[in-house]
Amino acid sequence: MADVRKVGVLGCGLMGSGIAEVAAKAGVETWVREVSDQLAEQGKAAVTRSLDKAVEKGKLEASERTAALDQLKFTTRLEDLADCDVIIEAVTEDLNLKNEMFGALDQICPSRTIFASNTSSLTIADMAAATSRPDRVVGLHFFNPVPVMKLVEVVRTIATSDDAYRTAFEFVKNVGKEPVVAKDASGFIVNRLLVPYMLDAIRCLEQGLASVEDIDKSMVLGTGYPMGPFALSDFVGIDTLYRISEIMFNEFREPRFAPPPLLKRMVTMGYFGRKTKKGFYDYSGQAPKAVNLGI
Ligand code: 3HC
Repeated sequence: MADVRKVGVLGCGLMGSGIAEVAAKAGVETWVREVSDQLAEQGKAAVTRSLDKAVEKGKLEASERTAALDQLKFTTRLEDLADCDVIIEAVTEDLNLKNEMFGALDQICPSRTIFASNTSSLTIADMAAATSRPDRVVGLHFFNPVPVMKLVEVVRTIATSDDAYRTAFEFVKNVGKEPVVAKDASGFIVNRLLVPYMLDAIRCLEQGLASVEDIDKSMVLGTGYPMGPFALSDFVGIDTLYRISEIMFNEFREPRFAPPPLLKRMVTMGYFGRKTKKGFYDYSGQAPKAVNLGI
C-alpha cells in the first residue's frame, strides 16, 4: 500500500471544491482541474472563502489556512495530474463525461494511479470497465457540505484490488474523514436509503398529507434530523435529486426510486433549489419561505 502524496480533483463545483479543501488541509498536494480558466478561478475563490470563514470562526489557524492554500494548485490541463497517486472526479453525473476524462487520464497516468469517482448513483464498474486499470478504480463518495460531513463511502467493484482499496481507505482516514466499506450498487449505502425517503416526502406532499413546512418540521422535531426532507432536497439540488432518482430507477426498476411527477415539473421550471434561489422554498428573502406549488 502506497502513501498518497499528490491528489487530483476533477471539477471544482460544490463537491470538488470541498474535496480539494479537505485534502489540502490535511497537507496533501492537491491539483484541481477545471475546464476553463474562469471556472478554475471561481473554484479557487470558493475554497479560499471557505478557508477564510473557518479562520474567522476560530476553527482553523491563519497559518493552517496559508499552508492549505500552498498545497492547492488549479489548472485546466489534465497533464498536470499525470503523476497523482489518486485522482477523484467530481464532475456532472454524466457517465460519458466521466469516462472521457478517465479515458484520457488512463493514457497519461502511470499504472499505480488510483482513479476514484465521487458519483452519487452511477456504478463504479461502469467507469472501471472503460479504463485499462479496472483493478485501480474505486468510489469515494463524500457528502455535502464536504468540510462538515464526516462520512466517505469507499466503494469497491468486483475488480478492485486489495492494494488500491486499502490505499483509498487509508487516504480517507488521513484527510480526517470516517470511511465505510460499501459495495458497488447504485446509491451505495446513504443514497439507497436517503433518496427513497426524499421521494416519499414529495409523494406525501402530492397526496396532500401535510404542507412542506409541516413535513419538514415533523422530521426535524420528531426525529432529530438536522433538516427536513424538502430543505434537504433544495440543499442537494432538485435537478441533482431528479438525476439520481432516474439513475437508481433505471438500475433497480423499483417504484420507490421513480421520480414523482412534481419533482419532474420543478426541474422543467428551473426550480433547482438553493442554487437557483427557488425550490420547495424561496430563498430570495431574509428567511426561506415555502413556494406555492399548486398543491
Ligand atoms: N462549509 C463549511 N462549513 C459549513 C458549511 C460549509 N458549506 N455549511 C455549514 N458549515 C458549518 C458551520 O460553519 C457550522 O460550524 P460551527 O457549528 O462549528 O460554527 C456548522 O456547519 C453548522 O452550520 P450552521 O450553524 O450554519 O447551520 P446548521 O446548524 O443548520 O447546519 C448543516 C448546516 C451542516 C448543513 C446541517 O443542516 C446538516 O447537517 N444538514 C444535513 C446535510 C446532509 O444531510 N448532507 C448530506 C446530503 S446527501 C449528499 O451529499 C449525497 C449526494 O450524493 C446527494
